[in-house]
Amino acid sequence: MEMEKERDPLVPHRHVRTDKPYPQPTPRSSPFPPPPAPQHFHVSRFIAFVVIWFWSLVCVMNATGSMGIAVTVRPCCRLLVAQLFPECPCHQRRAAAAAAFFFPRCPHDRRRAPALSLAPQRRSAASLVRAALAPARDEAAVSDARRLSTAAGPVPGVDRAFERIFVQGLAAVEPLVIERVAEKERMLVVEEKRKVEEVEEEQRTEVTKAREVSESEKEAWRLLKNAVVEYCGSPVGTVAATDPAAEALNYDQVFIRDFVPSALAFLLKGETEIVRNFLLYTLQLQSWEKTVDCYSPGQGLMPASFKVRSVPLDVSKDEVEEMLDPDFGESAIGRVAPVDSGLWWIILLRAYGKITGDYTLQERVDVQTGIKLILNLCLSDGFDMFPTLLVTDGSCMIDRRMGIHGHPLEIQALFYCALRCSREMIAVNDGSKSLLRAINNRLSALSFHIREYYWVDMKKINEIYRYKTEEYSQDAINKFNIYPEQIPGWLVDWVPEKGGYFIGNLQPAHMDFRFFSLGNLWAIVSSLATPRQAEGILDLIEEKWDDLVGNMPLKICYPALEYEEWRIITGSDPKNTPWSYHNGGSWPTLLWQFTSACIKMGRPELARKAITIAENRLSNDKWPEYYDTPTGRFIGKQSRLYQTWTIAGFLASKLLLENPEMASILTFEEDLELLEGCACNLIKSPRTQCSRRAAKSHVLH
Ligand code: GLC
Repeated sequence: MEMEKERDPLVPHRHVRTDKPYPQPTPRSSPFPPPPAPQHFHVSRFIAFVVIWFWSLVCVMNATGSMGIAVTVRPCCRLLVAQLFPECPCHQRRAAAAAAFFFPRCPHDRRRAPALSLAPQRRSAASLVRAALAPARDEAAVSDARRLSTAAGPVPGVDRAFERIFVQGLAAVEPLVIERVAEKERMLVVEEKRKVEEVEEEQRTEVTKAREVSESEKEAWRLLKNAVVEYCGSPVGTVAATDPAAEALNYDQVFIRDFVPSALAFLLKGETEIVRNFLLYTLQLQSWEKTVDCYSPGQGLMPASFKVRSVPLDVSKDEVEEMLDPDFGESAIGRVAPVDSGLWWIILLRAYGKITGDYTLQERVDVQTGIKLILNLCLSDGFDMFPTLLVTDGSCMIDRRMGIHGHPLEIQALFYCALRCSREMIAVNDGSKSLLRAINNRLSALSFHIREYYWVDMKKINEIYRYKTEEYSQDAINKFNIYPEQIPGWLVDWVPEKGGYFIGNLQPAHMDFRFFSLGNLWAIVSSLATPRQAEGILDLIEEKWDDLVGNMPLKICYPALEYEEWRIITGSDPKNTPWSYHNGGSWPTLLWQFTSACIKMGRPELARKAITIAENRLSNDKWPEYYDTPTGRFIGKQSRLYQTWTIAGFLASKLLLENPEMASILTFEEDLELLEGCACNLIKSPRTQCSRRAAKSHVLH
C-alpha cells in the first residue's frame, strides 16, 4: 500500500525535543457581528420620524397602559424606522442598527453565547454531551465554524429572537397590529424566562453533582492529577503508577494503553489539552529506527510507553533539556511487542474528535499519515490465512507469556474497533481510496470470522462436542480440525444455558476456551459482536457474576491456568501463578470498559453494581493494580498501589454512568454495509447476490 511520506524517515524520532512543536491555535475571530456601518440620515426624514414616533407612542399608551409600553413600543418603532428608511429592509442588519441607534437598549439581548464564556480547554459536561451527540462530523465542524465566525448569520447561544421578529415584520410590511406584536413580545419574554430557568436549573444540577462527589472520587482526582507528566511545560500523559513503596521499573513511564482511561476521565471532565498533547507527541514517537538488536520494528509501530528524560545540554553541562524516550518493547520485560498501542491511539483519536468537536486534529496531514502507517502495518500481507491479526504472545494488556500468541481475541476486538474508527477519520481522496477499500474488506471478513468461529454458547459447545475430525474439502464443518477432547472439563459445567462469549483464541486445531474480559467487552463496544451476541456476553457475566466479578471487577481472564498447564503455557511464571496477575487476577481498570459495554446495551444497572463493589474497596486498598484469588479477595501479591489506570478507570466509569450519552464517543452500531460483505461469506455459492436483507437474516439472527 502506498503511503504519503510527510516525515523524513532519516530523521531520528527516538529522542524528540521540540519546544513548540505544534502550531498554536489561530486566534479566534470575534463571534459577534461586526459593528454596523454608520447610517446617513436625511434631516427631513428625521423630523418626520420623530413626529410619527410620538404619535405612535401616544396611541400605544392609550391602548396598552404603562406596563405594556416597553414591550410594544420597540417593535413598532423598529417598524417605523424601516418605513422611513426604505433601503433598510434590503439590509436587515443595517435596519437593526438604525433601530438600535434610536432605541439602544434591548433588555432581551443580555445573554451571551454560553460556549464563548468558557475557556477553550474546559467545557461543561452539558456542552460536551451536546458535542458528542452531534450526529455528523461535518455538521459539528460547521456548527463550530458558525459559532466562531464573524458572519452576519445567527450566532448560536446569542439571543437573536428579537431581531428575527423585527426582520420578519419588515419583510411582510404589514400594518401595525399592536396586539399581535405585543403577543409575540410576550411569548418572547416567556421563552426568555424559560431559557434563563433552564440555565439556572443546569447550574443547580451541576452544583448538586459536585456535592455528590464521594470522598473516594475526590481522592481519585487528586491522585490522577499527581500522576500527570509534563513535557516542556505541557501535560502529555500520566505515569503508570505512583507507588512510593515499590521499585519503579517502568511504572514511571506513560503507557499508551494505560493512558486511555486517564484520557477518558479528563475528556469527560472537559480537560482536553492533555489528550491533544498526548496524541500529537506520541505520534512523533511512531517508530522509524532500529530497536531490538539492530532489527527495526515495522514502520508505524507505536511505542508501549515513553518517558520524559532530562539530559544535559551538550554545550553547557549545567543546563538540561527534556526528551521523550519511547520504548517499543526493547526494554520491556520479555521484549514484548506493543501491538495494541497503535490501535488504542486510533480509538482515542476518534473519541477526542467526538467529544471536543475538534476534527481539525484528525484532519492534519501528519495525523492522517500516522493513522495510515498503523493500518499499513496491520493490513500488510503475510503468511496468514485468517482475517484476524497474527501476533506474538504478550502483545497487549497481557504483556507476558500467557498462551495468547496467534490470534488472541483482545487484539482482534481492538483491531476491529480501530478499523472502524479509521474508516470514519481517513479523508476520502484518490490517495486513500484503496486503503478504505482494504479497511472495508477486512472489517467484513473479520467480523464474519469472529462471529462465526469464536462464538460459543451451550448450543455451539454441544456441536463441537459432536464434531467429526479430519474433514477435507471446502465444505468441512469442523474447518479448523478441532478435536472435541479439547473441550475443557471446567467449561462443561460452567457454560450457562443463557448467554455465551467469544473464546480467547483460535488457531489450526486449537480453541482457547478461556473467557477474556477485555476482548469480549470491546466486541460489544465496537459492534464486532452481533446485538444478540452482545446481549449474550452480558447475560453470561451476570450469570457468572461470582466468578467474573466477585469481590472486585473484573477478571482479566477465566479460569486460571493451573498445574501442568501453568508450567507449560506460562513457562512457570512466578508472577502469573494461578489466580494472580494476568492468570485469572481481577483488574479494576476493566471497569470503565465494562461500563461502556453495559451502557451501550442499555444495562447500566449491571455497571452500577460493579462500580459499587469497587468503590467500597479501592480507596481503602490504595488503588491496587490488580487483585488475587478466584473471587478477587486479596490485593495482588506483587500489585503496585496507586496504579493510575485503576484510579482513572474508576473515575471514567463514574462519569460515564452520570452521562451515559457520552459512551457514544467509544461505541459503534451495527453497520449494514459491512454485513453485506459478511453475508457473502456465509452464503455458500460465491455467485449468490448479496443483499442487506440476506445480510441481516444471516448475521443478526
Ligand atoms: C503491566 C500490565 C500492562 C500495563 C503495565 C503498566 O505490565 O500487564 O498491561 O500496561 O503494567 O501499567
